[in-house]
Amino acid sequence: MQVQAGGKLYLAGEYAVLVPGQSAIIKNIPIYMTASVKVAPEIVIQSDMFDYQAGLEPDRHYAIIQQTILHFADFLQKRAADLPAFSLAISGKMERQGVKFGIGSSGSVVILTIKALAAFYHLDLSADTVFKLAAYTLLKKGDNGSMGDVACIAYDDLVYFTSFDRQQVKSWIKNESLQSVLQKDWGYCIEPIKSALNVDFLVGWTKEAALSSEMIRLVQGAINPYFLTRTQEQVQELKRAFLKGDKTKVKEALTAVSRLLQDLHPAIYSDKLLLLKQAAHGLDAAAKSSGSGGGDCGLALSFSPEATKILSERWQAAGIELLLLEHVRTNDESKR
Ligand code: PMV
Ligand code: MG
Repeated sequence: MQVQAGGKLYLAGEYAVLVPGQSAIIKNIPIYMTASVKVAPEIVIQSDMFDYQAGLEPDRHYAIIQQTILHFADFLQKRAADLPAFSLAISGKMERQGVKFGIGSSGSVVILTIKALAAFYHLDLSADTVFKLAAYTLLKKGDNGSMGDVACIAYDDLVYFTSFDRQQVKSWIKNESLQSVLQKDWGYCIEPIKSALNVDFLVGWTKEAALSSEMIRLVQGAINPYFLTRTQEQVQELKRAFLKGDKTKVKEALTAVSRLLQDLHPAIYSDKLLLLKQAAHGLDAAAKSSGSGGGDCGLALSFSPEATKILSERWQAAGIELLLLEHVRTNDESKR
């Protein structure tokens, strides 16, 4: 059995969404990791990130996959040892020559593992249950993110995500059973956005890795009420503009959230990300950093073939690699 999980990139609302009740718009990235799962005499896990395989004995590299498996067993109200055993092989690392793309690796791996086990045990899990199980694993392990990434990856769609009180959920995780935590209303909202835009979506890779957890620690103290209010306004504007297919408003909102991020903290826009953004000047397009910034990927929305071409050329000249060019078309079911 084979399943897949893709990546994600923040279009708007990054950093603000760390505060419960704030919203972000996050785009699914059709670059997929694949998991193959089959019956085996005992549990074996193998990822193409590492040159060895593991079982369930503690292993630093496989810890996140192992935790996901243990929580999945708990979800089935069984011990992992009492479940039919499997061999799980994961491939499609989201990196090149050891430098990650920054499109969602840990969230993608957790979701991929959950989907693989659901397929193996013949469970039809909703995207919402997959999200909650993944967020449970990440929060329990101490992830300091908003979980917007897993919301997007679980739905594999463009989503509007409103964040929840993670401290509250963490205290439930500490004191209550997994079943009882999953049954509760966490207070988040995940809404897939049906975009009415015909647009080229470009992902530019800076080839400089940035760690989200460290960027969050660095920037968190700068988050202020002005930034939160203005960002929330622009996220709503962007959502409305996507739904209406209003490209002018889309460009305005992306430019506004980008400015807010640039003013929030100097670490967000690295030199490469500044070049990535400037490449859209004078074109029918808008470009910005994505997520925690400091490196990884930035993105652009382009509204004409000429703009797409010039933008890609400018990126190339700046040493930014065009990792993905997706022609998002409203009349094309596949959107690819
Ligand atoms: O850099 P990324 O793609 O992991 O995005 C991080 C987005 C933040 O808002 C800064 C953190 C979060 O988890 O919401
Ligand atoms: Mg990042």
